[in-house]
Amino acid sequence: MSEIKAAITGIEGYTPDYVLSNHEIATMVDTSDEWITTRTGIKERRILKGEGKGTSDMGTEAVKRLLKKTNTSVDEIDLLICATVTPDMQFPATANVICDKVGIVGAMSFDLAAACSGFIYSLETARQFIESGKYKKVIVVGGDKMSSIINYEDRATCVIFGDGAGAIMLEPNSEGLGIQDSILKSDGAGRHHLHQKAGGSVKPASHATVDAKEHYVYQEGQQVFKFAVTNMADVSYEIMDRNNLTAEDIAYLVPHQANKRIIDATANRMGVGSDKVMVNIERYGNTTNGTIPLCLWEWEDKLKKGDNIILAAFGGGFTWGSIYLKWAYNS
Ligand code: UT7
Repeated sequence: MSEIKAAITGIEGYTPDYVLSNHEIATMVDTSDEWITTRTGIKERRILKGEGKGTSDMGTEAVKRLLKKTNTSVDEIDLLICATVTPDMQFPATANVICDKVGIVGAMSFDLAAACSGFIYSLETARQFIESGKYKKVIVVGGDKMSSIINYEDRATCVIFGDGAGAIMLEPNSEGLGIQDSILKSDGAGRHHLHQKAGGSVKPASHATVDAKEHYVYQEGQQVFKFAVTNMADVSYEIMDRNNLTAEDIAYLVPHQANKRIIDATANRMGVGSDKVMVNIERYGNTTNGTIPLCLWEWEDKLKKGDNIILAAFGGGFTWGSIYLKWAYNS
């Protein structure tokens, strides 16, 4: 094990102004506030409005705020990773676009796609760069403009997703704080249950794919739910168990915000009370790569140096995993 650990040293977020409430969604599809609230825990979500606005605009705002807050200059950044499934375009990477808009020139930057697990996959990736000793300041952005791939005539998906982005700074720590352990998994056989049918190399965009609405999220909700409940809970328990952590040792569980019922099942399995679970799904819905950083951003004031925190996610791919970290600063 390297003596250098990778620690989060700052966090910021950005959520668009427009609030799409359950009541407004109920004017668009056959649903109700009651159904959405009881089945998912969501009351409203944010939508990025405006011609020509994409994921990079939310990521850029989060990164600008992060640089200001951490008193970091653009020249100091060695690497920026952007976790997203809604890149501005197929290429170049949204990470490159964010760097340009922020004024970061010459740093390594790339996107990482692992659906809703993208942020924790990116954090684990960034950790390796820090622990190598070569990279000193790494930014991980997690963000999605899910409204760009949602069919607002499909009640099975449009009630769930929202737009938003968060960004963290990762730096070396020699006090033993930061990322302690991780378990990250995938099973591509699950891809059939949650995907975007067209727009890739298998089925490039055409009039026919647009007419068939194949550029929107396709989800078999119940199937995904079954796998998510089991795997997110199992992996969160596993990381506790192998690090000899009891529920009392844990300050916070930071779960991906896909469905309040999946969050509750994970917390139950870990034996962690609701006061130790970060939940903001009622206000933002599922922002895919944005959920975990947006939670950390909102809870930052409450976090204390040395706190044991478990991050957990499950998403398309299937991909899932958990990360155990010790919080590195008091804000
Ligand atoms: O973040 C990435 C990973 N994604 C997830 O983790 C999502 C996992 N899946 C889920 O969260 C849930 O499956 C959903 C929230 C998507 C759906 O909830 P559900 O409890 O699994 O509902 P269901 O699909 O089993 O549908 C139950 C009923 C059906 O009606 P019938 O057949 O019982 O008459 C649906 O047609 O609810 C109906 N329904 C709705 N009714 C009102 C489905 N969507 C809606 C809706 N409003 N929006």
